[in-house]
Amino acid sequence: MNKTIKIDGVEIPFKEGQTIMDAALAADIYIPHLCHKPGLSPHGSCKLCTVDVNGRAASSCTMPAAEGQEIENDTPALNEVRKTITQMLFIEGNHLCPSCEKTGDCTLQAIGYHLGMLDGHFPQFYPRREVDASHPTLVLDRDRCIMCELCVRASRECDGKNVFAISGRGTKRHLIVNSPTGRLADSDIELDDLAAHICPVGAILIKDHGYEVPIGRRTFDLHSVAETDLDEVILTKARHHDEGDDSGEKEGGVYGV
Ligand code: SF4
Ligand code: FES
Repeated sequence: MNKTIKIDGVEIPFKEGQTIMDAALAADIYIPHLCHKPGLSPHGSCKLCTVDVNGRAASSCTMPAAEGQEIENDTPALNEVRKTITQMLFIEGNHLCPSCEKTGDCTLQAIGYHLGMLDGHFPQFYPRREVDASHPTLVLDRDRCIMCELCVRASRECDGKNVFAISGRGTKRHLIVNSPTGRLADSDIELDDLAAHICPVGAILIKDHGYEVPIGRRTFDLHSVAETDLDEVILTKARHHDEGDDSGEKEGGVYGV
């Protein structure tokens, strides 16, 4: 007999070893998330996926599903906290959506819309962050980095490299590149690495490919962030990005997930 949990009163099955997020995604239930991507190890850092499990707050991307859990997810109180977290992510960086190539494809922006965020609420930090345009095909704009570490994990777990890491604490926390000079050009990242395509915001962008899809016809112009298979939509876009690569396969990667 299937083991089950309940999310917002809906009973869904789960398999041994699955997290609440895994079970929810499998059952087409949307739990807001930014630092989670199926196929990569859970990170538990953004806290957007926080749910109430039997009355106690927990990150659904790290909390194992267990028989009998009664979970609250889509509630006004939880969504208000998620909106506040999203606002803090916006004001801590330099997110100028109208001039960002990622607009319409940015998960942070889409979650802001989903949660009814109308402004940043808090005073802007306007941090000074370094842009690295040294690489021939990629650009790293730390202004938009939300420290989700998806690129860190994708490089390590899927690409078999170790291109990125997070360094520093508090407001000095930032993404670093593991290369002799600290520049992207001197790292071993390549255009077809998953790490080059996985950024949920516009911090890692592909050079020479700006605005090919018009604003108004991008991922989140056509799909709500709450729609299912969104991770698949994004990964499909990534795997078809390179001209001539229609295999979608990448050894050891999550492209086929
Ligand atoms: S560059 Fe993008 S993927 Fe990497 S940590 Fe920053 S926001 Fe996350
Ligand atoms: S998605 Fe769970 S903490 Fe970020």
